[in-house]
Amino acid sequence: MNDAVNASPGGAGRSGFAGKIAVVTGAYGDIGAAVVEALAAHGATVYAADIRFTGASAPRSHGPGRIIPVALDVTDSAAVSSAFAHVAAASGPATLLVNAAGGPGRTRTPIDEVTDDAWHTVVRVNLDSAFHCAREAVRWMKKSTVGGCVVNISSGAGRTYSRTGVQAYAAAKAGVIGLTRQLAREVGPAGIRVNCVAPGLVDVTAIHDEITSLGADGLERHLSGVAMGRLGRAEDLVGPILFFLGTDSAYVTGQTISVDGGSTMLG
Ligand SMILES: NC(=O)c1ccc[n+]([C@@H]2O[C@H](COP(=O)([O-])OP(=O)(O)OC[C@H]3O[C@@H](n4cnc5c(N)ncnc54)[C@H](O)[C@@H]3O)[C@@H](O)[C@H]2O)c1
Repeated sequence: MNDAVNASPGGAGRSGFAGKIAVVTGAYGDIGAAVVEALAAHGATVYAADIRFTGASAPRSHGPGRIIPVALDVTDSAAVSSAFAHVAAASGPATLLVNAAGGPGRTRTPIDEVTDDAWHTVVRVNLDSAFHCAREAVRWMKKSTVGGCVVNISSGAGRTYSRTGVQAYAAAKAGVIGLTRQLAREVGPAGIRVNCVAPGLVDVTAIHDEITSLGADGLERHLSGVAMGRLGRAEDLVGPILFFLGTDSAYVTGQTISVDGGSTMLG
């Protein structure tokens, strides 16, 4: 059992991110970027991987850590493999991984009209991607002396159902929760923890139109099911994700936490 990742490192900050090597996918998205910036603010070197790769939307380091942009399609397993090898060669193995790449696909298509292609596109970006990245990350984490932490991003859709009616998204995000549990069980003895967050509806740029399409009544109905009475913000995800990545959760693995203002309350 490799316990180094679970020890409180003296002088490295409470959660021990200083000097750590992290890979965050979906890093140019609102949630991914918020996590990238927080990790860099705590001193990590963060490889910010996204299929979109434009300077304008790149997350910026406001702290002692570094942010290194990486153009990566997480549905391409060979490219993912090369990216992790590149990180290891340049900085050492990544010991922190956040799988934030994803997206819901086309909403409200009746099941009898969903094409194979539409289904597979959503499953590939939300579930295959997490598998590709976790597989490569674990490969390298096993070579490191400090183990590692993986955080997957599921969704309320994976715990209950897709409120926007995307069957593949609900299935893929439920799959992400299953993958989290299974990997946690497998790689725990190697000092690698795997956890998951399940956001509710988070007001990010990418889904403004979807939120607007709810209309005032629809939004009010949605918010009546949220104990906190508001939509999520990308920053709301940062604390729970950093908790799972850091030493404060040293004895926590295989868990999924809903970050949804109290929409889903599981026993
Ligand atoms: N916003 C919400 O309401 C909400 C709710 C539940 C779960 N989530 C999940 O949170 C995660 C982050 O989403 P977000 O809300 O920040 O949305 P976002 O669209 O801003 O971020 C997603 C990012 O993933 C990237 N991406 C998409 N396909 C990719 C690929 N093949 N390779 C690499 N990168 C790719 C996109 O370019 C984008 O930057 C996603 O997994 C999403 O499913 C979001």
